[in-house]
Amino acid sequence: MPEIRLVKAVSEYNGSYIIEGRSFQNAGRVSNEIKKILKARGISETVVRKVSIVVFEAEINIISYARIGVIKFEVFPDSIIIEAKDEGQGIADIELALKEGYSTADAEVCELGFGAGMGLSNIGKFSDFFEIQSDVGKGTYLKSIININGKQ
Ligand SMILES: Nc1ncnc2c1ncn2[C@@H]1O[C@H](COP(=O)(O)OP(=O)(O)OP(=O)(O)O)[C@@H](O)[C@H]1O
Ligand SMILES: [Mg+2]
Repeated sequence: MPEIRLVKAVSEYNGSYIIEGRSFQNAGRVSNEIKKILKARGISETVVRKVSIVVFEAEINIISYARIGVIKFEVFPDSIIIEAKDEGQGIADIELALKEGYSTADAEVCELGFGAGMGLSNIGKFSDFFEIQSDVGKGTYLKSIININGKQ
């Protein structure tokens, strides 16, 4: 029998932020905060930039389309895991929502310069792993993993 080695993954740092839907005055606050924390921990510019983009797009989507949500991030020695979970309208057709240019943003969201339909595809582009699940009328969950020593 091959020997199985169990390694418990312990995060070096983690944080969670609650985000209220339609709180446009807070747009970008969570990604800014996480950016500062990662920089202070000596994480490379390239990784910080990718995490900031992923968190920014996720927080704007919660503000734009959900009632309330939480963004959690965890720093491991070799990766950063970002999870965004919200309660809200959910996404009926995920494949369509992932397409560049597809958007259901309302006038208020568009006036603030969002609603180009690029957020989810950018999250996918900057993630080494990306998963999204949604229940219409309930909410949306997304998970992104960014490798620290991955191809940069
Ligand atoms: N958390 C969410 N809850 C409900 N619907 C969402 C959520 N996130 C995205 N969507 C839906 O998926 C669509 C595409 O999202 P995406 O972030 O790619 O673009 P956008 O938000 O419309 O524009 P951009 O991100 O470029 O400002 C949204 O217009 C919305 O219909
Ligand atoms: Mg978006």
